[in-house]
Amino acid sequence: MARLGIIGAGHVGEIVAYTAALRGGYNEIVLYDIDEKRLDGVVSDLEDANRFYPHDTAFIAGTIEDVAKAKEIVVASGRIPENAQRRDEFKNNHEDVKDYIPKIMAAGFDGVFVVVTNPCDAIAYAVWKYSGLDASRVIGSGTALDSERSQTILARTYGVSVHSVNSMMLGEHGDSQFLPYSQVKINHIPFDQYIEENNLTADKDAIEESVVYRGHRAFFGKGSTQYGIANTVNDILDAVHFDSKKSLQVSALHTGEYGVDDVFVSTPCVIGKDGIEKIITLNLTDEEMEKYRKSAETVRSYQASVE
Ligand SMILES: NC(=O)c1ccc[n+]([C@@H]2O[C@H](COP(=O)([O-])OP(=O)(O)OC[C@H]3O[C@@H](n4cnc5c(N)ncnc54)[C@H](O)[C@@H]3O)[C@@H](O)[C@H]2O)c1
Repeated sequence: MARLGIIGAGHVGEIVAYTAALRGGYNEIVLYDIDEKRLDGVVSDLEDANRFYPHDTAFIAGTIEDVAKAKEIVVASGRIPENAQRRDEFKNNHEDVKDYIPKIMAAGFDGVFVVVTNPCDAIAYAVWKYSGLDASRVIGSGTALDSERSQTILARTYGVSVHSVNSMMLGEHGDSQFLPYSQVKINHIPFDQYIEENNLTADKDAIEESVVYRGHRAFFGKGSTQYGIANTVNDILDAVHFDSKKSLQVSALHTGEYGVDDVFVSTPCVIGKDGIEKIITLNLTDEEMEKYRKSAETVRSYQASVE
C-alpha cells in the first residue's frame, strides 16, 4: 500500500490529489480539511474519475491520524488574505501548522513533508521546528514552481521549446526571488552568448519581473493557482517516493550554504526517499550571491515568530 497524505483539500490540495492519481504512484490518497463539507465534496468528485486513473486509487476523507499513516504528506492548508500578501498569510497559517504538526507527529508520522502552504519557506521552517524531524525530511516547494515559470516565459520570449531552456529562480518563493542569468542556457548555450549570436535583445529585469509576479495573473484572474503547483508538488513527491535522486529547486534548511544559515530558501537539491539528500551550491556571480543572501534575510524576517 502506498499512501499519500494531504492536509488541506482546497484548490491546491484537490488538484495535487488528482495529479497524483493520474500519475499512478499511490493507491491511497487521504485528504484532511477542517471544512468537512468541502472535504466530502472533493473526495466524491475525485472518486467520480476512478474509471480513468491508471490504477485503482482509493480517496479517503480522513482524520489527522489517517494522514499520519502516509509516507509523504503535502501541507496545503491555508487561509489566504484577499490581498494575497505572503506576510499577511503567515500569521494564520503559522497558527494552523503549530496546531496540527505536533498532532501528526503524535500519531506516529515518520516520513517526508512537502510544504506548499505560504509563505512556504517560513512555513517549512515552522513545520521543521514543530515536527522535530531531521531538516532533510521537510521540503518546501519553494521556487520549483517559479523555475518552471521562468522556463515557460523564456521559451515564449525567444520562440524555443520549454524543454530547450535551462533556467531557475533562487531564494524566497516570493517577491525577493531572483533569476540568476549566469545559470541560464537556451539550446545548451549560455544566455548572453545565445542572445549575442542570434542578434536578439534581452530585457533581463522585465523577464525576471514577469516570472516573480506570474502567480498574480492566475490568482487574481481565477482565485487560485493549481496546475503548475500540482505538477511541481508531484515531481517532488515522485523524487521521494521512487527515490529518484532528481535535483529540483526546492526550499531546504541552509546551514552555511551561500553564507546563509538557519533559513529555508531554494537552490537545486537532490531529492530521494529520505527527502533532501544534497543541497547544491551553485557558482553564482557576486551580484547573484548578494541577491541570494538578501532574499534569505527576507524569509528570516517572516519566521521570527517561530519558536
Ligand atoms: N508554494 C506555492 O508555490 C503555492 C502555490 C499555490 C498556493 N500556495 C499556498 O497553498 C495554500 C493553499 O492554497 P489554496 O489555493 O488551496 O487555498 P484554498 O483557500 O483553496 O484552500 C485552503 C484549504 O485549507 C483548509 N484549511 C484551513 N485551515 C486548515 C487547517 N488548520 N487544517 C486543515 N485544513 C485547513 C481550508 O478549509 C481550505 O479548504 C495557501 O497557503 C496558498 O498560498 C502555495
